[in-house]
Amino acid sequence: MDVVDARIERILKAAGDAPSVLNTQPWQVAVRGSTVTLRADRSRQLRHNDPQGREMLISCGAFLFNARVAARRESLTAVVTVLPDPDDALLVAELVLEPGSDPSDDELELSVAIEHRVTSRVPFEDRPLPADILVAIQRAAYAEGASLRTIQPADGSRAEVIALIRRAEAVAAEDMAARDEEAAWTTTWAGRDDGIPEKFLGRAPSNDDAPVRRFHASRGREPFERNSTLAVLTTPGDSPREWIAAGQALEHALLVAATHFVQASFATTVLENPTTRHDLRQALSLSAFPQMLMRLGTSPRPEHTPRRTLDATTT
Ligand SMILES: Cc1cc2nc3c(=O)[nH]c(=O)nc-3n(C[C@H](O)[C@H](O)[C@H](O)COP(=O)(O)O)c2cc1C
Repeated sequence: MDVVDARIERILKAAGDAPSVLNTQPWQVAVRGSTVTLRADRSRQLRHNDPQGREMLISCGAFLFNARVAARRESLTAVVTVLPDPDDALLVAELVLEPGSDPSDDELELSVAIEHRVTSRVPFEDRPLPADILVAIQRAAYAEGASLRTIQPADGSRAEVIALIRRAEAVAAEDMAARDEEAAWTTTWAGRDDGIPEKFLGRAPSNDDAPVRRFHASRGREPFERNSTLAVLTTPGDSPREWIAAGQALEHALLVAATHFVQASFATTVLENPTTRHDLRQALSLSAFPQMLMRLGTSPRPEHTPRRTLDATTT
């Protein structure tokens, strides 16, 4: 990595705190002067569970959103071009950092939330989110070109959605390649700085109607809440550009949630399987495309999962 401005270093460090599928951190950045290029790192793609690279680009979109927010904290504005080269599908975005105004209170609050956002895989309080917080989270997703469709405890479609989560997990459990890939990213060793260490996987839900993912490597079982708010992030289309938008929308929504001490966990196996993804669209009568399925709620805040160093992600 070239010697970079301390501000760019802080921006990239904050960007790297983004969520990513199985904590693969599938991004690589290059810094030249005040220009940052963000590439998807195909060597970190889940080739079996994510053959199209959809979740890889959602993860890169979340990185991109954090970079924009962190730039504002430094009184810089990131001028972003998404997919700047039609011949280079892995070149996710180019960011030119220009001098900007001082950050507003809202911008500062969002940048501070980067440090507080974490995925929580423990049981949540057994109640839906208050409507005002939900609206704020939905607005955040909307601002990035996505929508957040909620599925509340009383919704008729909820049981069907949870049944689809279980069906997708059952199919994945029979698929050796899927299991091996998950195992490769959930195996822990000292000093490992990617993947999900076992202690973060939490216990598996003992109740079938829990809106939470069952990892193969989870140790033990416990009952999970039944009445948290579920939400599906959707985009109008299903192209790489929309996957990147979905990642930005996801992170914007999660950061706003974090400012309200609300956390999320995800159950995306159902969207990795084309059949259950299709069935989910039908169950919710969606004309848009589901990109993420999450539960939103409150729990004690877990620790942070590890991250690769800046040197490892920057050329
Ligand atoms: C596209 C995508 C899919 C994900 N799918 C799941 C999932 O199915 N289950 C889950 O518990 N976490 C899921 N996550 C969350 C990641 O595991 C998490 O972001 C990563 O381990 C880093 O931890 P952190 O979010 O606490 O920083 C997903 C994240 C992304 C961006």
